[in-house]
Amino acid sequence: MRAWQVSALGEPQDVLVLADVPDPEPGPGQVLVRVLAASANFPDVLMCRGLYQERPELPFTPGVELCGEVVDLGGGVTGFAVGDRVIGSPVLPNGAFAEFAVMDAAVTFPAPEALDDAEASALYIGYQTGWFGLHRRAGLREGETLLVHAAAGGVGSAAIQLGKAAGARVIGVVGGPEKAAVARELGAELVIDRYQQDFVDVVKAETGGRGADVIYDPVGGQTYQRSSKCVAFEGRILVVGFAGGEIQSVALNHALVKNYSILGLHWGLYNTYAPELVAQCHRELSELAAGGVVRPLISEWLPLEELAAGVQRLADGKTVGRVVMTP
Ligand SMILES: NC(=O)c1ccc[n+]([C@@H]2O[C@H](COP(=O)([O-])OP(=O)(O)OC[C@H]3O[C@@H](n4cnc5c(N)ncnc54)[C@H](OP(=O)(O)O)[C@@H]3O)[C@@H](O)[C@H]2O)c1
Repeated sequence: MRAWQVSALGEPQDVLVLADVPDPEPGPGQVLVRVLAASANFPDVLMCRGLYQERPELPFTPGVELCGEVVDLGGGVTGFAVGDRVIGSPVLPNGAFAEFAVMDAAVTFPAPEALDDAEASALYIGYQTGWFGLHRRAGLREGETLLVHAAAGGVGSAAIQLGKAAGARVIGVVGGPEKAAVARELGAELVIDRYQQDFVDVVKAETGGRGADVIYDPVGGQTYQRSSKCVAFEGRILVVGFAGGEIQSVALNHALVKNYSILGLHWGLYNTYAPELVAQCHRELSELAAGGVVRPLISEWLPLEELAAGVQRLADGKTVGRVVMTP
């Protein structure tokens, strides 16, 4: 099969090479899928750079989520049949940026009928992260103000839709006017272009000085520092990622003085510690998708050959929603 491979670490466009490799084989408890669509995620960028918490041995194929068609079953697999359309994460080092991938059946889910292949591939990581972050970790309540950074991006766009679905007032922060239009379209009530306005001032002005109840931060660095200046009394800051390149550094005296919480979120760990919650989340997300309440934003559909350029655009902060490869 054809698969993108990383044999040396660096920028995606420099290190991703399209190669002919043997088809992967499903082990016990695994399914082999033909990839129908694979979404690019920032962790793919970080894996190419060798900066992600997971560091597969070289060479590896990145691609952390997909929609696929089951073509073979490993030993002991029940509940799936050849021909099923499924979503989930492939087992690295054989990631989703390929024609075939293997998935652990225990964390593989039926693709929602309401979504096409590209949309279904993107309902997994970003939306599960949003659901666990906003509901399980931050306990977002109806009527609260949710501030979402990188709001037009993959996890950000999901957080806007899920925040709205929960009855929150959603404020988005984005880089540039095109992304601002996207975040508005996604349902953010107010959008702040970080190149034009100081989000701290705007959030304070818009909340009568109170600040945002929940802050969703996939960016880190100064974005985190500034967020702590506009978090409400009993507010919650979700540490989701550091796409800006600088890890959040936390002044706990500030959290004490202002009475707010800082919540770490590593969604992938729920697959290990609470897989039943991941399944429950998938059912709820599928219902929201069926009702038209959430729908992943797909901005680019790329053939397999053009995937590396798309991952580089994601690395450079130039994409909105999800860039999806359809082999
Ligand atoms: N905690 C978890 O379990 C979990 C799960 C999934 C993803 N994540 C993390 O969430 C973050 C976002 O992932 P994603 O796939 O949805 O990516 P994304 O948000 O679509 O892309 C990153 C966005 O970050 C903003 N950004 C700010 N400074 C940047 C910089 N120096 N370089 C690149 N982008 C910059 C840009 O938006 P603006 O220009 O609009 O600011 C950019 O579009 C990543 O850090 C990822 O690792 C965490």
